Amino acid sequence: MNIKGSTHIYGVMGYPIEHSLSPVFQNAAFNHLGIDAVYIPFEVQPEGFIDTIKYLKNVGNLKGLNVTIPHKEFALSVSDEVSDEAKEIGAANTLVFDGEKIYAHNTDWIGFTRAVSLLTDLGGKKVLVLGAGGASKAVLYALKRAGASVFLWNRTHDKALKLAKSFSAYPISSPEEVLGEVELIVNTTSAGLKEGDPPLFSYELISERHVVIDIIYKETPLIEAAKKKGCMYQTGFPMLIHQGAESFRIWTGCEPPVRVMEMSLKDYGYPIESSKTHRQTL
Ligand code: ATR
Repeated sequence: MNIKGSTHIYGVMGYPIEHSLSPVFQNAAFNHLGIDAVYIPFEVQPEGFIDTIKYLKNVGNLKGLNVTIPHKEFALSVSDEVSDEAKEIGAANTLVFDGEKIYAHNTDWIGFTRAVSLLTDLGGKKVLVLGAGGASKAVLYALKRAGASVFLWNRTHDKALKLAKSFSAYPISSPEEVLGEVELIVNTTSAGLKEGDPPLFSYELISERHVVIDIIYKETPLIEAAKKKGCMYQTGFPMLIHQGAESFRIWTGCEPPVRVMEMSLKDYGYPIESSKTHRQTL
């Protein structure tokens, strides 16, 4: 990396941020295409987000930011213009700075759509979505847009009722109700991130015909169960890469070098060999 006076700055803002892999693959992409830019992490607490963005608006060579937990909803209120998709989702993960205005976009839903399309078509699919938190909204939007039919379960049922209404999904009281009829299961909750988290439902009920996606990067007990059953499965890595690739496209106007981005995460557990169809047998 060769930082000069002319170098453009991009970054990711969140709290916490130290585990973010975005700097790794975004810098790999800039380097690969010889773009004079650098991508850095910004650790900003929720209370400081709005002021920080206000100040950063004055930094002329700052061209774009990804925003992540817990700022995605606030990102809308600091922006001068918000894309239709980000408005409908109610959150943005990509900001563009042009020296005068801030433009907000959401690429999480595209990342999810691209990642899933490596495994299966979404149109007309019956899908079980687990979770009605922040991460769920982009997934529900993507599924609605693709014409899937969605059952939404959340530990706190009221939240499922609310989101189901916004994204034309059917709220359900327990995942077991629909396991027999859905083809795709998507976990958007944080359950499985920590050792000892209880299972979201009885994983014995997963069968080989289910396609199972967990938007958490690591292999959660849900993904382990899907592997054991011989299901097609996917962790959150492909969605991470594809949402970042779309941010890169918005910022630079260049075709994102997706394979280079993936390869840069090889040492961080990216499933390089099986990034298309994640079957246990591959
Ligand atoms: P994020 O922005 O990552 O989605 P969030 O908005 O805090 O984070 O949402 C976390 C989601 O994970 C919620 O759907 C939450 O369920 P509740 O609404 O009932 O809190 C879900 N979640 C977290 N831990 C869980 C657990 N152990 N079992 C089931 N759901 C869990």
